[in-house]
Amino acid sequence: MRLLLLCCALAAARAEPSVWTWRCESGSCVRRSAAGVTDGMQFGTCKLTCGELSAVWPRPTGPAAFGSETVPFLIDSVQFQLVAPDPVKPMLQTATEIFLDSLRALQPSGLGGRRSGCRPDGACEPAVAEQAVKVTVAVESADTALTLETGEDSQLVVSYTAGSEVSVVINATTFFGARHGLETLSQLIEYDDDNACLQASADRTDAPVYPIRALTIDTARSFIPLSALRRTIDAMAMNKLNTLHWHVTDTHSFPIEVSSEPRLVQYGAYSPQQVYTAREVAELVRYGRQRGVRLLPELDAPAHVGYGWQWGEDAGLGRLAVCVGEEPWQSYCVEPPCGQMNIINDNMYTVLEKIYKDFNTLFQPDIFHMGGDEININCWKTSPEIADYVSDHGGDPTDDSEYMELWAQYQLRAADIWRNVSGRDTPLLLWTSDLTSQEASGASSVLPPSQYIIQVWTTGSDQQIGDLLQQGYPLVISNYDAWYFDCGFSAWVGAGHNWCAPYKSWQTVYDNSPRAIARSFEPSGADYASLVRGGSAVLWSEQSDAQTLDSRLWPRGAALAERLWAEPDTDSAAALTRLVHHRERMVQRGIGAELMQPEYCHMNDGICVL
Ligand SMILES: *[C@@H]1O[C@H](CO)[C@@H](O)[C@H](O)[C@H]1NC(C)=O
Ligand SMILES: *[C@@H]1O[C@H](CO)[C@@H](O)[C@H](O)[C@H]1NC(C)=O
Repeated sequence: MRLLLLCCALAAARAEPSVWTWRCESGSCVRRSAAGVTDGMQFGTCKLTCGELSAVWPRPTGPAAFGSETVPFLIDSVQFQLVAPDPVKPMLQTATEIFLDSLRALQPSGLGGRRSGCRPDGACEPAVAEQAVKVTVAVESADTALTLETGEDSQLVVSYTAGSEVSVVINATTFFGARHGLETLSQLIEYDDDNACLQASADRTDAPVYPIRALTIDTARSFIPLSALRRTIDAMAMNKLNTLHWHVTDTHSFPIEVSSEPRLVQYGAYSPQQVYTAREVAELVRYGRQRGVRLLPELDAPAHVGYGWQWGEDAGLGRLAVCVGEEPWQSYCVEPPCGQMNIINDNMYTVLEKIYKDFNTLFQPDIFHMGGDEININCWKTSPEIADYVSDHGGDPTDDSEYMELWAQYQLRAADIWRNVSGRDTPLLLWTSDLTSQEASGASSVLPPSQYIIQVWTTGSDQQIGDLLQQGYPLVISNYDAWYFDCGFSAWVGAGHNWCAPYKSWQTVYDNSPRAIARSFEPSGADYASLVRGGSAVLWSEQSDAQTLDSRLWPRGAALAERLWAEPDTDSAAALTRLVHHRERMVQRGIGAELMQPEYCHMNDGICVL
């Protein structure tokens, strides 16, 4: 079945006929003078019907056929039939409301809410008003949890015979596949200026290549208000990204409420207003799940710890963190302010257990991130109590390897605590570090590959990647030379640009293939690509807060999303016109995505290329 819907939404579009029209020429929508052109069409119609992938982002992975006809309909004439086990029904119901909101967002402002057929001259009445659209959404599984095993597949069929209703069927294994199907459907509908209409199409089967399709967001260097996090989740849902990896704390601040230990936010939050309360976090977890996005919490440790942990001595618990705010910072950490856990203090582990307990209750995470990056050995070595501990245990306090060993002991103990409080074998994530590098070289075995997923932030050509794969580690790819979204701006310590300049363009983001990275290290006969669990683009927040969040993340996050959803063999150049159009769609839905090209280029495919 191949066809398109065209929906006449609301009245009062432009009364004057346009002097412009669009033609589909060699797969491109080109703008032509309407005079003398008989096969011209509306801009939106062209975007939907011209090109084999229509206007869908990210591109489907299964067979897909998009039609060339359009059928007008009104938003109000869309009816849903939901076929799903009871636990899924309310989520599905909400998903249909989100879907309708996304259609309303397509309408030019000023038309909102007013429904009176079509143009003042009545051009699309009464045919449009009569057109019924029935959307059946069927979900098999009663499971409402998103895990690494969750099927996110769906099938979408739109069918229509003249004179009858338009029938849309979305079938999915789980709720998550169904909501992706609704997202696709929303992208097959466009507003039509001439007819004041929306339009749609299709038959496609779809499922993601990778189970972890993530953004890493840092809320410790800058506090990001909940409204901005919710908007980020909305945008992720538009792109079928499914994981918000929340780097919630760092040395700079501790903004998340741990109910059993209120001193963490009292000492750690930038201000009492810049706190995520337990209730707000629980609500955000629900908000994400409804939109197909899991919240993956990270408590970065044993480095990247400081503010929030300073009250130990006053409370008679000894120092919980060391080197906090130590200067010159270059000697003790990678950026100011410094701070690391006091990993020989038993009381520190008691606090850690409280945090883990709360995180487990709030997030119920199916995977948990333990941080583990950028440990500075010198910080521990120059802390008298830690150096004394090494001596007391018969070690040489001037030997770095003693502290590597302490770090390994910390990791084993912390993982044990997490397993105890969560009561299950959650896969654990760690950033690449000196510890993972040791493991990769086979020099120690603290991190069994059956328990850990390593998030790689080295360059994509770093030998550690090959070594980790050789040891059998599952990986999440975040190589900083392509997927760090904070790179290329002014330096914030010192002059010039920041450390990982240049800026990573959307093209660089799109063309960074986890599969190709894994294969570049693959000896013949091995299958490294199957160890890749996905990827995450990272936005550290030293230089971005809610003011710049959207433009840093989008449309580059969309480029990432298509790479992770589909791993296409094609490159960024082939994705240009769809992404330019998708960026417009994101803006229409309230996301402040950065402009890629002048609007002229959006209206004239194939002109703004080299
Ligand atoms: C979708 O599921 C329904 C109910 O299980 C089934 O009757 C229908 O044939 C399926 N449709 C498609 C397109 O798979
Ligand atoms: C985890 O629980 C086990 C069994 O109760 C206990 O023996 C162990 O000490 C606990 N580990 C930590 C680090 O608390």
